[in-house]
Amino acid sequence: VRQAPIGVFDSGVGGLTVLKALAAELPNEHFVYLGDTARLPYGTKSPETVARYALQAAEALSEYGVKCLVIACNTASSVGLPAIRAHICGVPIIGVIEPGAEAACAASKSGHIAVIATEGTVRGGAYQEAILRLRSGARVIAQPTQLFVALAEEGLHQGPIADSIAQHYLEPLFGAALDSASSRGLSASPGPAVSRDALTPDTLVLGCTHFPMLAAAIRAAIGPDIKIVDSAATTAKAVRETLERESLTRLAPPVPSPIRFLATDSVERFARIGSHFLERPIHAEEVELVDL
Ligand code: DGL
Repeated sequence: VRQAPIGVFDSGVGGLTVLKALAAELPNEHFVYLGDTARLPYGTKSPETVARYALQAAEALSEYGVKCLVIACNTASSVGLPAIRAHICGVPIIGVIEPGAEAACAASKSGHIAVIATEGTVRGGAYQEAILRLRSGARVIAQPTQLFVALAEEGLHQGPIADSIAQHYLEPLFGAALDSASSRGLSASPGPAVSRDALTPDTLVLGCTHFPMLAAAIRAAIGPDIKIVDSAATTAKAVRETLERESLTRLAPPVPSPIRFLATDSVERFARIGSHFLERPIHAEEVELVDL
């Protein structure tokens, strides 16, 4: 079992941001990554539909004999985890919401945390609940930023379109922080910016695995002072701890291509867009087309 791969899935290529962190944290492991690109986006669909899709994806991955399943999609984690845990037995199943909430609570000084995510993740309230479970005094605001998914999947990570969509979504949440950052440059006295700072979140959680690709546009829209966190690194750590606890870590040294890619639609597109997310070339021949 130790030699078996780790299964990772997302609605598309967004989960590759988590896979990148997993591969760095667990260099000896093998992975099977499934992007359900034919049915993306999950974020605009009903919880019932997302739970059904997520379960099908998990079942497909379990046919590859995976020793652990990582739901590298916040939307699927927020509504699909109970169904997946009920149906797939005998392997640890790790979502990205708890690790993301943990990263947010560790980063925030004030406890005022903003979450941006898909419509489905925000509506379900899983992030808000997970943060409050870890830090009962936290103030959480959550904002759906669904267009970010389309931008990331289109490869439009940077440039004027990404910048203006980021401003559209984020200025209402962080306007006060931007004002205070610019007034600090102009005047020695912090003046009213201090009280406005108190109303502004000090931490922004990228509650969708596609969003780290838009980090530059997001940073430009919120100014330099807000901490930006995502769940990739904390999820990778949670997976490593789980494997260690369950004596599931792979002992043999790594082999040259330890990742197998599966997609439910165009392998060419998956390879092209996915290469940016993984920050290494993916060739279309490495991607298998599968049907769920
Ligand atoms: N990457 C997914 C997430 O983390 C969802 C994107 C989508 O399919 O809407 O929520």
